Amino acid sequence: MMVGMAPIDFKNSIALVTGASSGIGRQVALDLAAQGATVVASSRSRARLDETAAALKRYGGASEVVECDVSDPAAVKRMVQDALAKFGRVDILVNNAGFGDYLPLAETPIETVESMLRTNYLGTVYCTKEALPSMIARRSGAIVNISSISGIMGTPEIGPYCATKFAQIGLSESLYHELKPHGVHVAVICPGPVRTNFRRSFDARAPEPPEFMVLESTDVSRAVMRAIAKRKFRIVMPRSLALICYLKGVFPGVMRFLIYHAMTAASRRSRAPKA
Ligand SMILES: NC(=O)c1ccc[n+]([C@@H]2O[C@H](COP(=O)([O-])OP(=O)(O)OC[C@H]3O[C@@H](n4cnc5c(N)ncnc54)[C@H](OP(=O)(O)O)[C@@H]3O)[C@@H](O)[C@H]2O)c1
Repeated sequence: MMVGMAPIDFKNSIALVTGASSGIGRQVALDLAAQGATVVASSRSRARLDETAAALKRYGGASEVVECDVSDPAAVKRMVQDALAKFGRVDILVNNAGFGDYLPLAETPIETVESMLRTNYLGTVYCTKEALPSMIARRSGAIVNISSISGIMGTPEIGPYCATKFAQIGLSESLYHELKPHGVHVAVICPGPVRTNFRRSFDARAPEPPEFMVLESTDVSRAVMRAIAKRKFRIVMPRSLALICYLKGVFPGVMRFLIYHAMTAASRRSRAPKA
């Protein structure tokens, strides 16, 4: 039986944000806290989490930071069980932790491919599986997965990363239908390039995106808030890339041709020796 969903009141909510030691995750944690949520902000690096903790302090309340590697199911279980024991519930889960690599598959160590899958995709699965039973029991909750434009469009030299982001979208779409009757909203955000530490691990020859396509963490965080408040399923951004994704859906062959030529030209330019 389909039921209407109770609106999520940010003010009194308990939110768990992964990958909150920098970039998008930190911004989402701060924006949720600014709206009165109690935030459990997690990642692996204690030093960077301390910076998040200091920023969260400005908003008062009981928000906290927790060390957790999302690719470790036992660590995820501990983190979620501790949050449930301490706060009684998790209303909002933002699966954001992730990393990417920019290298042809032939040059990518298999350990990197496996680690990316364990972090970006399985991390999302582990956190969701742990938080879900209590959301279903309370018939309320929101799960927001941070995927990417790379989850809609495969581009050269980023295949293993694209695969993890496609997987997150497939999982989100299935869960959206599965959990709606239980009062739990699922959303997926698909940003293009965002100005964060993310590209640090990229091969130095990775092409730079055109400036007009580059988002800030604040743009993505706003999309997360909108997805929760307005029960949006998928938000693709910026608009220029959303249009390209739309055209890819309508004219897949034409767009494959155009994307191939645009991306290989960009790749050639970035790999040419600098004058
Ligand atoms: N920046 C972009 O262009 C872009 C575009 C589309 C989508 N995204 C997605 O946005 C998400 C956030 O990336 P970002 O741009 O904000 O990059 P970022 O600044 O590098 O942040 C990544 C966060 O993930 C955490 N993390 C990485 N591996 C982890 C693990 N195994 N367990 C727990 N936390 C882990 C990092 O913290 P620790 O190192 O402390 O663990 C960090 O807090 C990622 O899922 C990424 O795929 C980024």
